[in-house]
Order: sequence, then C-alpha cells, then structure tokens
Amino acid sequence: MTTSLAGRDIISLSRLGNGQIKKIFDLARDFRRMFDRCHALPPLMAEKVLALIFDQPSTRTYGSTGIAMVRLGGLLAPPFIAASVASSLAKGETFEDMGSSLSEMTVDVIAMRHKKVGSAQRLANGASIPVINCGDGTGKHPTQALLDVFTASRSIGILDSCTVTLLGDLKNGRTVHENGPLFGRFGVQRFFLVSPPLLAMPKRIVTQMERHGTTIIQTQDLEAALKESDLVYATRIQREYFESEEEYDAVRGSYVVDAALLQRTNPNVKVMHPLPRVDELATDIDKLPNALYWEQMRNGVFVRAAILALITGAI
Ligand code: NCD
Repeated sequence: MTTSLAGRDIISLSRLGNGQIKKIFDLARDFRRMFDRCHALPPLMAEKVLALIFDQPSTRTYGSTGIAMVRLGGLLAPPFIAASVASSLAKGETFEDMGSSLSEMTVDVIAMRHKKVGSAQRLANGASIPVINCGDGTGKHPTQALLDVFTASRSIGILDSCTVTLLGDLKNGRTVHENGPLFGRFGVQRFFLVSPPLLAMPKRIVTQMERHGTTIIQTQDLEAALKESDLVYATRIQREYFESEEEYDAVRGSYVVDAALLQRTNPNVKVMHPLPRVDELATDIDKLPNALYWEQMRNGVFVRAAILALITGAI
C-alpha cells in the first residue's frame, strides 16, 4: 500500500494505512521539534488557500487548523461560519455542489465541521481538492483521534501493553468513535468503556476496537477501571444531541475526574480530554503531571500542519 497522502481526503481513519498514519506522526514530530527550537515552521503552504467551513461550535479544531495553515505560510479563505444559515447551504445547496464550487474558486484544501453525519464525505464527493473532516455530528473526528494517539504515544511511549479507559458520552462523542479504534491499532491491550448505560459505545465501534485482539470491558465502575488504567480519556456529555433538558439532566455530572479521585485510585494515571469540559474534568488536575490535555492542544497544531502539508502535496 502506498504511503503517499497527496490528494487524499481525511474523512475516516479506517481508510488510512498504518504507514500513512506513521508518516503524519513523523512529520508532526519534526514540525514540533522545529517550532520548539525556532518558533517557526517552514513556509510549505505559501500561496495555498484553506477554506474553513464550520457549522458547529469549535475553538480548538477551528483554531488550530487555521493556525497550522498560517504557521506554514498559507492563506485562509473568508471563513464559512454558521454555514447552514450563512452560506448557500441555507438555500438548499448540496454539500457536493459546495465542494465543487470551492474547488473552482482556486481553493487548495477544505476543512469542514457540520452536524450531519456523512456531510464531509458528501462535500469530498463534489470537490476536486482534498477535504478534512473536522467532525461530522456524532460520526467521526479523525484529526482529533490522530492528535490524541500522537500525544499518548509521546507521553507513554509504546502503547502495546497499555490499558485505556474511555469515559463519558461514548454514544454521541465522535472523538471516542475514532480514537478507540486507533488506540486499538496502536496496540492498546485493554479498554474499559465507562459510561451511563444510556450513553454506551455503539456496537459497531466496539466491533472495530475488538478487531485488533483487544479486550473490552464495559462498566459503570470508574474507580475500579482507573485502578487498572494507564490512561483515562474523559469526554463531555454531548448536550446538543439530547432530545430534552430532562434527559440531559438525568445523566449530567455522572462522572467527575478530579485530583481526589486520582489520589484514591491511581496517582499515576494520565488524563486526556478533547475539551471543552463542562463538569466531568476538574480544574484541580490542570497543573498535575497527569494532565495531558495541554499537550493535546499544542500537538493539535503540528498534527494538523502535517496533514495539510501532506494531503496538498506540499511535502
Ligand atoms: C470535541 C468535538 O467537537 O467533538 N472537541 C474538539 O474537537 N476538541 C469534543 C466535544 O465537543 O465534546
């Protein structure tokens, strides 16, 4: 299988080979090293244009994709924010037509987040330039999964003999739908899936995670899981996908990861979170060596820079 990524869309990681993922990680590592040394990246994207289409709220994915482009000397098209009301999607234009239109307008790469599952794929079907899925509703979030596994490997080293707890809204959270299978591919041996019963990991994702011979334990007992874990990946209960406030209130605050919990169960466990946090991750962890979420954010810029440079054929 070729490891070239030039011209490829990043819609779902199941379509990328291990060699391609390694290539992204190697380049992200080089970019991070360069930046830490001289506070700059090479101008690989000079004269190239990125279009950001974001129809759901975002701070990190929107910010770091745009910043990665700018750090590589590239340009940003006028941003399509709230695209379902502010672009011609509001007039009934299809994602396919939006993709082909931006391709004609001399854009080089598109990054899109939209609430509809499958929207990024449809945009890519119409586009003749690469498309990055920055989150399609409850579907996938490939760039987040890449930066998650990149960060975990940098902190822990080889993930082969690790146990990982995925915690929170495993039903609606697209981050765990994509990073669960990727952690499995990187050799994680055992997962605890901890969630309220209503928010359990979909069966199809569990099946993908099991493909690598991984042991999966579904439980509601966070303390027991943490005692045996090297890493806990906490997620927000995804309020926007609930039918009513009552349903959300019934599960909100089900689990809280705080310093006292770590002290009681496993003072060495690493803590990851894609952010934003609501009430599931206490700020008293922020300054502890357990917290990897700052690193996730920083690495997000370099992983996304690597993706942009590789899929546009800039490197
Ligand atoms: C996540 C997302 O949008 O899926 N955030 C992110 O991209 N860093 C997680 C979330 O919104 O809870």
